[in-house]
Amino acid sequence: MTLHGRGPLNQRLFQGLRRSILEGRLAPGVRLPSTRALAEDLGLSRNVVLMAFDKLLDEGYVEARVGSGTYVSAALPDAAIAPWRPRRREAPLAPPPRLSAHARRVIALAPLPAPTAPLRSGLKYEFRYGLPAIADFPSEAWSRVIARRARGLRITSLRYGRARGYQPLREAIAEYVTRARGIVAAADQVVVVNGSQQALDLVARLLLDPGDRVVVEEPCYQGARHVFAAAGARLVPVPVDEAGLDVARLPRRGAVRLAYVTPSHQFPLGGIMPPWRRLELLRWAEAIGAHVLEDDYDSEFRYESRPVEAVQGLDRSGRVLYAGTFSKVLFPSLRIGYLIVPTGMVPAVAALKFLMDMHTTAFEQEVLADFIVEGHFERYLRRSRTRNAARRAALLAALDEHLGDRVEVVGANAGVHVVVWLRGVEASQVEAIRHRAAAQGVGINSVAPHYLHPPRRAGLLFGYACLSERDIRAGVAILSRVLREFPQALRRRPSA
Ligand SMILES: Cc1ncc(COP(=O)(O)O)c(C=O)c1O
Repeated sequence: MTLHGRGPLNQRLFQGLRRSILEGRLAPGVRLPSTRALAEDLGLSRNVVLMAFDKLLDEGYVEARVGSGTYVSAALPDAAIAPWRPRRREAPLAPPPRLSAHARRVIALAPLPAPTAPLRSGLKYEFRYGLPAIADFPSEAWSRVIARRARGLRITSLRYGRARGYQPLREAIAEYVTRARGIVAAADQVVVVNGSQQALDLVARLLLDPGDRVVVEEPCYQGARHVFAAAGARLVPVPVDEAGLDVARLPRRGAVRLAYVTPSHQFPLGGIMPPWRRLELLRWAEAIGAHVLEDDYDSEFRYESRPVEAVQGLDRSGRVLYAGTFSKVLFPSLRIGYLIVPTGMVPAVAALKFLMDMHTTAFEQEVLADFIVEGHFERYLRRSRTRNAARRAALLAALDEHLGDRVEVVGANAGVHVVVWLRGVEASQVEAIRHRAAAQGVGINSVAPHYLHPPRRAGLLFGYACLSERDIRAGVAILSRVLREFPQALRRRPSA
């Protein structure tokens, strides 16, 4: 043994022995040489060795057994149980990892932090899109179902489940969407997924090869557009108007593999596609050989107009894949959604889902199935419809009272968000407005990130489900004061 470092010899010997113990060269239970023998071996005075052994004893690294010698302790002192990290020289700079084309596309896509992200957490008036009415959630009923399921936990719940999802949940979903959304599908066509985001990703894997053309709405839900771009698809943006995707502007030439649409409440502008446009979309898809991905993310909430049958329900040639979610009606961290596909696609979707994550968590699927079958889901839905209608009315009234014709509100007839165009405000001012508003406790998103070609005018996205009517009024009042700080906001001019 050689003694490294500087300092008193007894200290250096102690450290050398301690290191040997921690690195396992002197294993627990091993007998140390006698102090006399070690002193001779190392050419040290016996006193030096005795002092080092005393310190090892004191700190619990060794034990003395009377008449027999000194042994490495069976249980090392707590602090030393942490893995021993020998001092390393600075690692040389690792070369950048070689990433797949897919990863390179994803990294190029994700501008972080996105302007849709919260500027800060804990804002009092958070109009951020994507937060449902957590305060209304029937947590007691939900907890009771969880507790009952947990008490009666069966062995089958602990095993791997089916990639397609828990059968009773698939049946409950099929029954609900048939009745409430005009979907024409059997439970066998339902695949349970981790939120509709996974449904979008599954469809991209199912249908797209790099270079394939995909029609997206302009503007379009950013999370969807990024999925298709990540798959290497070529995006074909088609403008939307107050009736959703403008079908007259769909490409008539060249192959198109997929069209992604949000017909029940266009995201983010809120247009509702009338039945004749839905039929026209299907005729176009058939003629050009495209599939249609219908993202029905929040159609449970409708105001002042009757629900329109889903595009899936009108499809007679098996072109439509339908994605639904519980994120907006229950809560988004549940991460449960569903993809409903033509029967012939189910095995491929299930195989892809299996490769991704085998299946969605079984316990939550069981709880959700009970929650739906026992009627809690629709009871809550009816209540939240009334609550969200009141919130929407409060928001529209507050916008009218405080901002009047300085704003144009669109997309208020469904869902739980509206878009507010600020008249006379340049798009370049939106970030400054968001920061000023956040400093006063108001959280809002810009609509711009959802455009491939961002508009020149300033648009804000207002989610309202997570706020009380009182807070909605207070938040809008604060925002109107913030907007007064931006002189252009006061200039009235027609919308661009
Ligand atoms: C239009 C649209 N599609 C899909 C999603 C994804 O939702 P989730 O994965 O939570 O079901 C969202 C989320 O806000 C959305 O707005």
